[in-house]
Amino acid sequence: MTFERMFEKGRIGGLTIRNRTVMPPMGTDFANHDGTASMRLIRYYEERAKGGVGLVINEYTGVDETTSVPTNYNLRISQDWHIASCEQLTEAVHRHGALIFAQLHHGGSTSKPALTGRQSISASDVPAVPGAPAPRPMTVGEISAIVRKFTEAAIRCKKAGYDGVELHGAHSYLIGQFFSPYYNKRTDEYGGSFEGRMRFIDEIIDGIRAELGTSFPLSVRICGDEMTPGVPGTLGLADGLAIGRHLQDKGIDAINISNGSALNGSANCDPYSCRPGWKKHVARAFKEALFIPVIATNTIKDPYFAESLLKEGVCDFVALGRSLIADPDFVRKALEGKPEEIRPCIGCMYCRERLLVHGNSVSCAVNPRMGREYILKSRGRDGDLRPVVVAGGGPAGMECARVLAERGFRVTLYEKGPALGGALNIADKPPRKELITKLTDYMADALDKLGVNVRLNTEATPETVRRLSPLGVFVACGASPVVPNLPGIRSEGVFTAEDFIMGKAKPAGRTAVIGTGLTGLEAADMLTEMGRELILVEMMDRVGPGLFAVVLDDIMGRINRGNPAILTSHRLVSIKRAGSSLKIMLKHGDSDVSLEADSVALALGVSPDAAAVEKFEREFGAHRVFAVGNASRSGRIAEAIRSGFERAFAFEP
Ligand SMILES: Cc1cc2nc3c(=O)[nH]c(=O)nc-3n(C[C@H](O)[C@H](O)[C@H](O)COP(=O)(O)O)c2cc1C
Ligand code: SF4
Repeated sequence: MTFERMFEKGRIGGLTIRNRTVMPPMGTDFANHDGTASMRLIRYYEERAKGGVGLVINEYTGVDETTSVPTNYNLRISQDWHIASCEQLTEAVHRHGALIFAQLHHGGSTSKPALTGRQSISASDVPAVPGAPAPRPMTVGEISAIVRKFTEAAIRCKKAGYDGVELHGAHSYLIGQFFSPYYNKRTDEYGGSFEGRMRFIDEIIDGIRAELGTSFPLSVRICGDEMTPGVPGTLGLADGLAIGRHLQDKGIDAINISNGSALNGSANCDPYSCRPGWKKHVARAFKEALFIPVIATNTIKDPYFAESLLKEGVCDFVALGRSLIADPDFVRKALEGKPEEIRPCIGCMYCRERLLVHGNSVSCAVNPRMGREYILKSRGRDGDLRPVVVAGGGPAGMECARVLAERGFRVTLYEKGPALGGALNIADKPPRKELITKLTDYMADALDKLGVNVRLNTEATPETVRRLSPLGVFVACGASPVVPNLPGIRSEGVFTAEDFIMGKAKPAGRTAVIGTGLTGLEAADMLTEMGRELILVEMMDRVGPGLFAVVLDDIMGRINRGNPAILTSHRLVSIKRAGSSLKIMLKHGDSDVSLEADSVALALGVSPDAAAVEKFEREFGAHRVFAVGNASRSGRIAEAIRSGFERAFAFEP
């Protein structure tokens, strides 16, 4: 078998796990407001268990709601009445042969005073990140009370049918705050020396062992390397290994290795530009230093890489985080020898952005069912081979065609270009975006397997489509780049960022990129890689308005290496060719500003083509024509795919 090591049984404490795959803890905000597990949350985990994963470590689960509430819909096991719903969760996971741990969590300084109504507590008064609200140092009495809450939570977990628990000692939450000299400035027995900084977790472990014995498995998640260089007191690999050895000596059953800190979340959950394996030296160091099982994440996007990590001896269990958000059947598809059918995570960070920036529950850019498994059950094959047409083969059109074909409709998809992909064929050209190509290939392959009749190089028109007598026409013809009607905008040397990214336009010399949304910055990323002198012009008061900080920092880290000139709060007014260069006129407040450049790349957004939808509506009637993706509302890959899914799922001919 190709994935031999992945499908070997594994052991943690006295447990036997059916394979070497673990779903690491990932907060979803799918719980009820009172902290109980909702049906939404239960079905989400059940689907991953059904998909073949060996061990689920469910999302961070609060041990105390008085001093630690991270989000509005955070799962908790801080009260006896939380047990009942968690029991439904463990039963649902067990039903499919997987095992389940809860990750026990207290946020310390990361907790939200707006949600608890009180100042947060921590080892000392150091805020989680500079500028965040300062916590107050815990008294010794409070430390004992929180230790007891961890123990009581573990007892409840056992009653709820969990197979074990994991202590969340990673990512600068309360346990990690005690570990770290950066956060822990205490001068009493809970600070200072290594032993002092370990005392809090030691007491938690002792408390749990005293109540539940050594047969109830206990894992601890830590950051093997906080990867926060230049910040005194944060922990490096040598510190992580010392903590690992200490915990092993305390008798824990497994260690779960993550990386990063509150000051560097990208080392834990990394953006698309990070290569799989970039942090595997950390897990390997633990595997070499310890004899207890090592679980580790490693930006695993496909089962071949997971298998190689096990073969190389990097870890004993591979943790598949976002890959299981993107495809709950990742493990089963690998087991069945169909790895090409795995829907790939594209590392876009949309899931994190929803949770951390917008306070929404998690959803996934490529998997519209994620978190809605409880309502979006299969519609079965109700299409009866009745004809439908999808006009446009971008992400929305492909997803729409896939769902319709799965429902058993006879689907014809028209794409005017030579290949499927649409906007994905632009999105995958900038540096390090191969995962988008992988997504396009996966989506195209799925259509092929489902027998969708794909007509490339053919534009759908009402006349051609009429011959098929479709019951529904799904217009997914994308959107066009906005080119504002400004003086000189059509001058030679002025082109859209999309044309440049696609290689249809060749910028010469010094290039001004007007607009710093994702497309503008991706064009700038490519220009920087080509060694071009660059000017970034943005109408808003900051570069990358609306972009998630992790993605923005990642891309700007590369662009800044080229020392671009950056003009924010500058609005484009006109462009004029003056000899061999272009004169660009901008407004900055009431002032006029002029720039010279050899080329201009316009990245001012896209606008849907309403006329395309209307012409189909005139032919077939508005009730049979559905605009999807950018043809309905310009947006991101996530919104395009979701819209294609929704329309096809809800379609009632
Ligand atoms: C939406 C989301 C929520 C997360 N919540 C948690 C959490 O509750 N506890 C935790 O230890 N790590 C959390 N993480 C980190 C993941 O466990 C994992 O370390 C990270 O996603 C990297 O692994 P991957 O590359 O396989 O996705 C979260 C990650 C994501 C994407
Ligand atoms: S939202 Fe993006 S990063 Fe998150 S799981 Fe889905 S594809 Fe991966």
